[in-house]
Amino acid sequence: MTHKPIRKAVFPVAGLGTRFLPATKAIPKEMLPVVDRPLIQYAVDEAREAEIEQMIFVTGRGKSAIEDHFDIAYELERTMTDRGKDISVLEPTRLGPGNCAYVRQQEPMGLGHAIWCARDIVGDEPFAIFLPDEFMHGSPGCMAQMVAEYEKTGGNLLSVLEVPREQVSSYGVIDPGAAQGKLTEVKGLVEKPKVEAAPSNLIISGRYILQPEVMRVLEHQGKGAGGEIQLTDAMAQMIGKQPFHAVTFDGARYDCGSKTGYIEANLAVALSRPDMADEVRAIAQRLVG
Ligand code: UTP
Repeated sequence: MTHKPIRKAVFPVAGLGTRFLPATKAIPKEMLPVVDRPLIQYAVDEAREAEIEQMIFVTGRGKSAIEDHFDIAYELERTMTDRGKDISVLEPTRLGPGNCAYVRQQEPMGLGHAIWCARDIVGDEPFAIFLPDEFMHGSPGCMAQMVAEYEKTGGNLLSVLEVPREQVSSYGVIDPGAAQGKLTEVKGLVEKPKVEAAPSNLIISGRYILQPEVMRVLEHQGKGAGGEIQLTDAMAQMIGKQPFHAVTFDGARYDCGSKTGYIEANLAVALSRPDMADEVRAIAQRLVG
């Protein structure tokens, strides 16, 4: 059976990033760099690798740096070219008008609400969601791995990973059913459960492929955990009506919404880069003694 291809991706980037203040007072959290690329660029590159064509950003006030980042920087390019400098590093940052769209979430009412703001541009087709502060490091990328599974199963997919049980209450958690290879059936979802009540230690990790019906569910979704409109609650309502699976990502995930996760991501990427790995390893060894 062939399933409708995933052509569109939604990047919710309208959150306040309060855990990273004061760094995120004037700069969006999604523009924080891991080594030399902003988080949002890694997410867009991951989408492109998965052959997604249209990037939809759900932005808010103070997020114009993201729009500038994906625009053409004429002056910069001109000056660099005049001085004989290589501008190829800027190539992945140019998203043409046919490849990107911006919608505004006027108030940060939660991830579910942010996704719903993109409903008109998503239209009636399955789409991907990327939370850019969840940095997925691996090859092939997380979304490419998910799309490969989607081509077999269709329906809805989310990426999961195992965490120590005492950490589950910070995340969305799945109630797992039968597992086969990378795929696990999803029987239920809970957002930020108490440790005792959590159905597993498999947490949702920032990448989704969803059917457009989720927009209709979100339309009527009330506030959930933290007084926010939760995507997890809307997805939970689709279980049983449509196929729903979790994909275990073969790679590493760093929570760049938290300071220590962000430091870890920088170190991991630096240590994986041939241009700096040796130097950074020596620095790290010296610092930890
Ligand atoms: P987070 O809860 O991690 O981001 O949302 P936050 O609210 O910006 O961060 P803190 O907790 O205050 O530090 C995950 C993603 O969803 C987006 C965020 O921008 C982030 O990329 N988001 C969240 C929205 O777009 N709108 C919202 O109302 C909430």
